[in-house]
Amino acid sequence: MNLTKEEQLMLNGEMGYAVRKSMEILVALGEIYGAESLIKVGSVQVAGVSYHNLGDAGLEFLNELAKDGRVRVLTTLNPAGMDLENWRQLGISEEFAAKQNQVIDAFERMGILISCTCTPYLIGNLPRFGEHVAWSESSAVTFANSVIGAKTNREGGPSALAAAFVGKTPCYGLHLDENRVPDVHVQVDTELSKLSDWGALGYAIGKKAENKIPYITGIKEAEIDDLKSFCASVVTYGAKPLFYIKGITPAAESQQIPKDKVTIEQSDIKNAYDNINDQVSEIDFVCVGCPHCSIKEIAEIANLVRGKKVAEGTELWVATSRTAKQLADKRGYTAIIEAAGGKFACDTCMAVAPLKGRFKALATTSAKGCFYSRQNLMKTKMGSMEECVQAAVTGKWNS
Ligand code: F3S
Repeated sequence: MNLTKEEQLMLNGEMGYAVRKSMEILVALGEIYGAESLIKVGSVQVAGVSYHNLGDAGLEFLNELAKDGRVRVLTTLNPAGMDLENWRQLGISEEFAAKQNQVIDAFERMGILISCTCTPYLIGNLPRFGEHVAWSESSAVTFANSVIGAKTNREGGPSALAAAFVGKTPCYGLHLDENRVPDVHVQVDTELSKLSDWGALGYAIGKKAENKIPYITGIKEAEIDDLKSFCASVVTYGAKPLFYIKGITPAAESQQIPKDKVTIEQSDIKNAYDNINDQVSEIDFVCVGCPHCSIKEIAEIANLVRGKKVAEGTELWVATSRTAKQLADKRGYTAIIEAAGGKFACDTCMAVAPLKGRFKALATTSAKGCFYSRQNLMKTKMGSMEECVQAAVTGKWNS
C-alpha cells in the first residue's frame, strides 16, 4: 500500500500506541484486499460494544487503546449488552452491569459518542450521498450504502475503531464504484402490506441473491421504517450490504438493470414466514425494535397498547435509542407503554443482551431478530406490530 508521510509516521508509532495499532490493522486489511491507499472517512459506527460478546479479553483490548487513543471523526456506538440506565429493570446482573460500564467508560475516554444504537442515521450520524464512511453493524452498513448512498465496507468492531483513530480506511471493496454494480435483477411481484413483510422480503431476496448486489424492481413505495427492516434482513439472510430499489433508493437510476433475473412472488414471502416462524403458541417475550424503533414506531406501539396490560409471565420490550426514548417521554408515549407494563430497552437489543436461556419464545416484527434469538435458544414468531402487541397482552400467538 502507498502510505503518505503522515501515515508512515503513524505506523511507526510517532503518534502513540492506539494510532500505531490502528495503522497495523488498516494496512494488514488493505494488503489482504488489494487496497492501494487509505481514504478519509466522514464518520465511524463501532460495533462490538456488548460485554456479553467482548468478554474480559475484549475489555482489556479496549482499555489499552483508550490510554492514548482519541477518535478523529464523528464516531457512534452500536447497542451495548444492557440499558445503561434501567438495566436492573431488564433483569441484568450487578456483575454484568459493572463490566458493561467499564466497556462504555473505555469508549467514552476515546471520545466516542455513547449513542448505543444500530440506527445512528436517525440520531445525527447521517453521512451525505457518496461520502466514504467506516461503519460496522450489518443493518446500518446496508442502510448507509443503499438508502443513503454513502460508501462503506462491512467493518468489524476493531477495523471500525482503527478507522476512527486514524480518520481513514483502506480503499477497497464497496468504496470503489466498480464493486458497487448490481449483479442480479430481483422483480418483486407481490404486495407488502406490513412491516414484517419487509423482513420476509429480505429473507427471500437474501436467499435468492446470496452474496450478490440486488437491483430490485416492482416496489412502488417504502417508508424509512420499512427500509431499515429490509436492510437488517436482506444482509442477515445472505445478500451483500448494498441494494438498489428502482424509484426508491438514490443511486438506482445511475445503475443498469442486470440481465440475471429472479422473481419474488407471494409464495416466496409465505415460505420466508414458514422458515422464520416456529411451531409455538405460548409467548413469554415480545421485543420490537430491531433495528431500533423510530419515534414513529414507538407512537404506533403506544397507540396499540393504550389501556391494555401485558400478560403475566410475558415481557414486552421496546428497543430503541435513548434519543428516541427522550422524544417518547416528551410526547407521553413512554408513560402509555409503561402503564401497560411494557419496558423500554434503550442502548441494547435482543441480540446483544445476555438473554440465553431466559425466555422460551419470542414474538417480534424482525426477521433479523428471529435469526439471533434462535441462537439464544428461543422459538420465534414474526408478525406485524399489531400481532406482536396482541401476543404481549395475551401471552399467546394467535395466527
Ligand atoms: Fe440492531 Fe440488535 Fe437488531 S443491533 S439490527 S436491534 S439485532
